Amino acid sequence: MRLKVLSGKRFNEEFIVDSDKSISHRCAIFSLLTEGVNEIKNYLRAEDTLNSLEIAKALGAEVEDNGEVIKIKAPKELKEADDVLYCGNSGTTIRIYMGLLAGIDGFFVLTGDRYLKKRPMGRVANPLRSIGAKIDGRDNGNLAPLAVRGGELKSFEYESKIASAQVKSALILAALNADKPSFYKEPFLSRDHTERMLKGMGAELEVNINPDLSCEITIYPLTKKLSPLTFEVPNDPSSAFFFAVAAAITNSTAVIKNITLNPTRIEAYKVLEKMGAEVEYLLKEDRYEPIGDIIVKGKNLKAIEVSQKIPWLIDEIPALAMAMAVAEGKSVVRNAKELRVKESDRIKAVVENLRKCGIEANELEDGFEIRGGIPKKALINSYGDHRIAMSFAVLGLICGMEIDDVDCINTSFPNFFKLFSKIAEFEVENGN
Ligand code: S3P
Repeated sequence: MRLKVLSGKRFNEEFIVDSDKSISHRCAIFSLLTEGVNEIKNYLRAEDTLNSLEIAKALGAEVEDNGEVIKIKAPKELKEADDVLYCGNSGTTIRIYMGLLAGIDGFFVLTGDRYLKKRPMGRVANPLRSIGAKIDGRDNGNLAPLAVRGGELKSFEYESKIASAQVKSALILAALNADKPSFYKEPFLSRDHTERMLKGMGAELEVNINPDLSCEITIYPLTKKLSPLTFEVPNDPSSAFFFAVAAAITNSTAVIKNITLNPTRIEAYKVLEKMGAEVEYLLKEDRYEPIGDIIVKGKNLKAIEVSQKIPWLIDEIPALAMAMAVAEGKSVVRNAKELRVKESDRIKAVVENLRKCGIEANELEDGFEIRGGIPKKALINSYGDHRIAMSFAVLGLICGMEIDDVDCINTSFPNFFKLFSKIAEFEVENGN
């Protein structure tokens, strides 16, 4: 599909975006460790998270969905699936399931779409192999399809070089199935939904966050099944951020409802604030996560340098780049090499597409530089990456835009077009 953004307008609107992708994946996967019936409200019904749920079913879970609540009952023991486990576009699905399945007796094959099959899996496969997991795949187990022969795992002490919630989550799940307590360290705290949820379900984890924000976790093997989840998933701050940027660049107001205010997820809003937008955070409740509303009011934006706390805003950098494209001065993003191995090479995708819009932008090895200007309409290649597609749709509010290959938006945010229609005139053409 091709999206043609015709025009945008100034707005003062409320946005109830789709539910959180990271937390929804974890609800499906962690349910498999429980005894009893998990009841999940507001589960994200997007391609990525539905794939995680399908895999839970293939492993023997009974899943009932009445449209409002999804009930998941795990089997006593996970069964060997009789087919390949399809993870679609989702790095979270394939990497976290690898950690779980490595400790389950059986043979499992995980694969995904053409984009996922290019993304590095060695970051999970290698540490899992070092504790006894049998994992193979293309490029010596670095690329899907991946074959996992699950079995007994040894405890470990592992210091990860990258701050990655997917790697951390995979290793925590493996540690729950290991013989003795394990220790995991990451150089900077990555999103911590796994720790919060598993602890809430009764797993024994000791988490220590150091003053430099490095993080150490001791994980004790499970001695019994976990308590089932009864949980309403909050909405997704990463999805909502497209509307935050939309408000910021059009001098508008976006009231974003019921999102997780977990600090590891909302750092991009803080950057937008530093660029000149007015941002208000209204904490309403705490259910595993702090949850509330964020109000963003657009003001004239100025350039910024972003090189700190990158794991807390990595998914929002493409959208932030759109704010940088209209801000006064030269913005720089550094220490963000991970962008190169997301759903696309997001450094290349952002820079190449911004240049098409007449904005001066340069790739750096670990980020980019953008000099703010007056963008013009162009034909954008999304590279099949949902966040690239939605970011340039938002930039189109100012100058119009045509974006190829926007089907990918359904991987994370099926209601995007409905909400976007509150603030933009656009057409979607099939056949591209
Ligand atoms: C995610 C972790 C992040 C993020 C991804 C979702 C998760 O990746 O970019 O979109 O749900 O665990 P890392 O594994 O690099 O932290």
